[in-house]
Amino acid sequence: MKVGDSEEALSIWEDVLGEEPIQAKNYLQKFLEKNSKFCFVAEEDKAVIGVVLASFNERVGYINRIAVKKTFQNQGVASKLMKTTIEAMKNNGAPSIFIHCKSELAQLYEKFGFKIDKGSVIMRLKLD
Ligand SMILES: CC(C)(COP(=O)(O)OP(=O)(O)OC[C@H]1O[C@@H](n2cnc3c(N)ncnc32)[C@H](O)[C@@H]1OP(=O)(O)O)[C@@H](O)C(=O)NCCC(=O)NCCS
Repeated sequence: MKVGDSEEALSIWEDVLGEEPIQAKNYLQKFLEKNSKFCFVAEEDKAVIGVVLASFNERVGYINRIAVKKTFQNQGVASKLMKTTIEAMKNNGAPSIFIHCKSELAQLYEKFGFKIDKGSVIMRLKLD
């Protein structure tokens, strides 16, 4: 993903995630500075319609965020972004990839071979 695409990618964040543009912009810029090798956009007529933000910490890969513009959902856009990301992770030596997702989306990721890790749970410590 090119940093120049980030403005357009932000519109997707607002569209599907309802995030404040300024909060999303800070997040996106910092994320891209570190992980541009693993971040991709899908385009239609040169407009950004989907984004995936992923990272690799030299031990494991993570898919941190994936979002597709509402009007382009259910047309295989996320699937293409997932394939590209998995390929990039493989090419960079990631032995596995983690994703933290809503349970109703598990079937989307299972299509790519992800499995629910039965031995682990997600825990959160709220600090505010
Ligand atoms: C989740 C999201 C990225 C999927 O994008 P998409 O381009 O519509 O996905 P695809 O068209 O590639 O769908 C791939 C498969 O996943 C399934 N799927 C897609 N969205 C789904 C949903 N919300 N719930 C359950 N299954 C879903 C599709 O039915 C499809 O299955 P099929 O191949 O059997 O038809 C998109 O709905 C989105 O941006 N949602 C809001 C942000 C979000 O929740 N991101 C994920 C955070 S973990």
